[in-house]
Amino acid sequence: MTERLYIFDTTLRDGEQSPGASMTRDEKLRIARQLEKLGVDIIEAGFAAASPGDAQAIRTIAEHIKTSTVCSLARANEKDIRAAGDAVRPAQSARIHTFIATSPIHMEKKLRMTPDQVLERAVAAVKLAREYTDDVEFSAEDAVRSDLDFLCRVFEAVITAGARTVNVPDTVGYSIPALWGERMRQLIERVPNADKVIWSTHCHNDLGMAVANSLAAVMGGARQVECTINGLGERAGNASLEEIVMAVRTRRDVFGCDTRIDTTQIVPTSKLVSTITGYPVQPNKAIVGANAFAHESGIHQDGVLKHRETYEIMRAEDVGWNANRLTLGKLSGRNAFKTKLAELGIVLDGEEALNAAFARFKELADKKREIFDEDLQALVSDETSADERERYKLVSMRVVSETGETPNAKVVFADDGVEKEARGEGSGPVDAAFKALESVVQSDADLLLYSVNNITSGTDAQGEVTVRLAKAGRVVNGQGADTDIVVASVKAYLHALNKLDSKLERAHPQV
Ligand code: KIV
Ligand code: ZN
Repeated sequence: MTERLYIFDTTLRDGEQSPGASMTRDEKLRIARQLEKLGVDIIEAGFAAASPGDAQAIRTIAEHIKTSTVCSLARANEKDIRAAGDAVRPAQSARIHTFIATSPIHMEKKLRMTPDQVLERAVAAVKLAREYTDDVEFSAEDAVRSDLDFLCRVFEAVITAGARTVNVPDTVGYSIPALWGERMRQLIERVPNADKVIWSTHCHNDLGMAVANSLAAVMGGARQVECTINGLGERAGNASLEEIVMAVRTRRDVFGCDTRIDTTQIVPTSKLVSTITGYPVQPNKAIVGANAFAHESGIHQDGVLKHRETYEIMRAEDVGWNANRLTLGKLSGRNAFKTKLAELGIVLDGEEALNAAFARFKELADKKREIFDEDLQALVSDETSADERERYKLVSMRVVSETGETPNAKVVFADDGVEKEARGEGSGPVDAAFKALESVVQSDADLLLYSVNNITSGTDAQGEVTVRLAKAGRVVNGQGADTDIVVASVKAYLHALNKLDSKLERAHPQV
């Protein structure tokens, strides 16, 4: 019999802890809607105590999401749990996820608490969370480096206190599959009432084993996996949802369990997360990389043509690769545009935003013959960020790049509605445009990353540019899309400057 494996997606919480991946409320809602469409069981929407903005984003998601449980993270203290409880209150199905570290190094050096104090705090946290919802999850942070006997005591106590899901995290990505599977097996065997709860695993990818460790935990009895789209997450990231889901589906014979994920939504979700966070997907990434189903070698091509299963263990269309259908064209009207946005789960903030997006769609349709779903996602990104201050806006630009000459750029942009002109030279057209902007804006920010990706194929495709800027300890990602990659670059630079200017401050859950 196939058992159910619950998918707990933490793209909007642990994923958001990647440098510069901070999202606005609207961006988070767009991703949450897509996660609901994908069929994830639990959406960890954020960490309510991190900032008022985080709490508001969780509340908004809780108001809109109907078929997935909406969850907030909370440290094991009263303030965090009350903030989480208030934020998830509007949800049809709400969960509070509370955690405290249980390893000697974390208890002594970070928390400065004794094991007994930690245990007491964990129990109190679960009891308080249960006053808000029956669906309470407890995590023993750094379980990987925790003493097994102590872990058993903590899990036994939180189960008695009312936790329904108990999560075993490899917070630092230290484990290896054989040990992680064994740890899960031992916990389930030793903790009294283990059969009354769902055992969960949460793995980080520091040694590149997050997915393998999560799957080993499933073999050991875990029935919830915590993961993120594209494996997004701080440092080397979290276990990637798409790999976990496709592994258990493709090898149901081995795992004996399955998820309720609609796998055809995997690629669209991956692309949306990549567009919004500015984290590109490497071409050879399993399942969602551009080359994941491409066969280059003649022998493979020949085999696949004769019988697909000679070299393919999954079908590209089953994970949504043909979902980038031709969407709209030059002659499509406003209604068709609006209907398509609704189909993609995109909700714009009022008629004005819709009109602006439609005007940009028409402009794009003039430049690009075929417009795909991904083009629309990129196109509306600017329009949906209503809660982000847009101080800088591109008005017009010109770049001159000629062999043997130094490239130069003139950029006209609005600074809080006041038009300014900037000129600069550089080693290439993008460098010249950025130098021009900086000569006027003088942001003093460091450019950490500049990357260009084509949204769809072909030379008329939109280029999607990510610019990562750092200033005074803050890191932000800006995105811009255009058929002209220098224009896309300037848009991305201005977007990053706007984010720096928005000063979205947030606390880190582990601190
Ligand atoms: O990595 C971790 O331990 C976490 C916990 C908060 C579950 O993210
Ligand atoms: Zn984590």
